[in-house]
Amino acid sequence: MNVEKKEIRVSKFCRVLIAGAFASFCSVSAWAESAGQWQSGKQIYEQVCSHCHETLVAPKILGRKMAQDYVAFVVQRGLRAMPAFRPTDFNDQDMAKLTSFIQSGQSVKREGEHP
Ligand code: HEC
Repeated sequence: MNVEKKEIRVSKFCRVLIAGAFASFCSVSAWAESAGQWQSGKQIYEQVCSHCHETLVAPKILGRKMAQDYVAFVVQRGLRAMPAFRPTDFNDQDMAKLTSFIQSGQSVKREGEHP
């Protein structure tokens, strides 16, 4: 009984989060690249992931030592409030570049900043 109540609360919270995440996602989803055309993991992170992960929308992932399989799993399937990406967005090499970039924890341009 207790468990069920908790789940209901979590799903309400997620809906609010999803609404916010999607609002910011839609406004930035017009990136030009697709699978195999990304130059570097940094480019992917700055142009795609940073819109949520360098803002208050999503938890910090840069510099965390997450397994490549885990990152690929989340990116391909989504995780609760995080939307899944299409198979045509990133291929295996893109994911490998992206994961090593995330693990390296280099600093990145944040949304709204200019080079
Ligand atoms: C639309 C916003 C959005 C974008 C864009 C986005 N994420 Fe996320 N991501 C989230 C949110 C929100 C969560 C937290 C999900 C939760 O726990 O409910 C998350 C969680 C994650 C997690 C799990 C973190 C953990 O603590 O276990 C990983 C890994 C991740 N994102 C990787 C990425 C990568 C890599 C990209 C770029 C390809 C990306 N995300 C782009 C919103 C986003």
